[in-house]
Parts: sequence; C-alpha cells; structure tokens
Amino acid sequence: MRTPVLAGNWKMYLTPAEGRQMIEALRPLVEGVADREIVLCPPFTALAAAADAIEGSNISIGGQNVHPAREGAFTGEIAPPMLKALGCRYVIIGHSERRQYFGETDATVAEKVRAALAEELIPIVCVGETLEQREKGVTNPVVEIQVRQGLDGLSPEELSGLIIAYEPIWAIGTGRTASPDDAQQVCAFIRSVMARLAGEGAQKTRILYGGSVKPDNIKELMNQPDIDGALVGGASLKAESFARIVRFEE
Ligand code: G3H
Repeated sequence: MRTPVLAGNWKMYLTPAEGRQMIEALRPLVEGVADREIVLCPPFTALAAAADAIEGSNISIGGQNVHPAREGAFTGEIAPPMLKALGCRYVIIGHSERRQYFGETDATVAEKVRAALAEELIPIVCVGETLEQREKGVTNPVVEIQVRQGLDGLSPEELSGLIIAYEPIWAIGTGRTASPDDAQQVCAFIRSVMARLAGEGAQKTRILYGGSVKPDNIKELMNQPDIDGALVGGASLKAESFARIVRFEE
C-alpha cells in the first residue's frame, strides 16, 4: 500500500553536462516503471539541467539540502521556493554528512522540514547511528531522538506525507550494508515511534534504507515489510546500476 521510493543522492558529484548524460541514459532503462517513485537529487548546480532532462519522464528531482528561510541575506544558501521553482518535488534534510561536516542538529532539521513542507516539498529526513553507538547498543534511542526532535511540532498529516531515510553512518560509502534483518528492525522501530506521533498515519510514512545499497542487495532489502525504498549514494551515479536498483534487479 506504500508506493516504494528509489532516490539517488549524487552528493558533490556530476556537472550539469554529466548529470544530463546520466539521465538520458537512465530514461530508457526505467521507462514504463509506474509503481514506484524514482527520484534524483543532483547538486544545486546541476538541478536546472536535470529538470530539463527529466521532462516528460517518470523521474522526479529533489534538492540535497535547503535553508529554512524563504529568502534573505544568507550567502551561499538555497531557499525552498528556489528548489520549487526549479521543479523539485523532494528535498533531503539532515543527511549525516550535513550533520557531521556542517553542524546540522535535530533543531535545524526541524526548522528545515517545516520550511520544506510550507513550500509543498516532500522532505526526505535522514537519521542513523554511528558505529560506536551501534556497538554500545544505543541505536534505537539515538534514532528515536532524531525522529522526535527532527519532526517536532508536525501534524499527523504532515508526518504521514514525509519520507524518513534510515542510514546507519557506518554503512555509508563503506561497502558495508546493514543486514536486511538489522535494517528492518530499525525501520520497524522508527515506524513504532511514528505511530506514537502520528497514530494510524504512520502506516503511510515511507521509510527508506540507505548505506551501500547496490543492485545485488536491493531485492532482499525491499522484501522487508517496513522498508519502502532506498536512498542511494554511489550506485546512483551510473544509469545502469541505478536502473537495476529501481527495477529491483540483481
Ligand atoms: O544518501 C545516500 C547515502 O549516504 C548512502 O550512500 O550508497 O554511497 O553508501 P552510499
């Protein structure tokens, strides 16, 4: 009942020309796939080229970050209406790289989520524990705080419409994937936290897994009842591998 979402996060890779080339190669490979949402999140500089290249296809685009203000003197930042004007439907918020390298906190995540929703952008809110936290056995409490504080003050309807990406930090770009069972356990736990916040609406919230997702592990991840898709980094840069992930093909 939840439409799967396969989202590619290009991070700080691909120029506008390279992004366009990737999308031109991807389009025929995912043509006709209608039962899932296909999303690409290019760097800001490649968004216009990507918006043009997806025209008339089943692919949507999103930003990788957003500023909480609608406009203002914030050098180097991008406001929600700017993403919207470029054709973005989604925006990634609180990625662990933003938290780790750019000082984002659950409070800034909450502000950005509200700003994105006000512009009718669908937030993809990232949460996840470090290796040290996992080894200490505190994954659930860490993730619960990120969910509760990052989504603070939202209505049940807003909570059910957004997307959460569970990305264990130790699995990002390392080739080390959480086992499907481990990923399922945390995603089910996140849904239980969402149920306390949104009631029945939590059944509608899409929860993605992210962290070294590849064509050879997507199928097993998608077989888990609480995993509704994937947020893909490295393997989303090439049309062939991302298309296989979108199609759940090994
Ligand atoms: O946003 C994507 C995640 O950080 C996963 O990246 O697939 O390269 O591990 P990865």
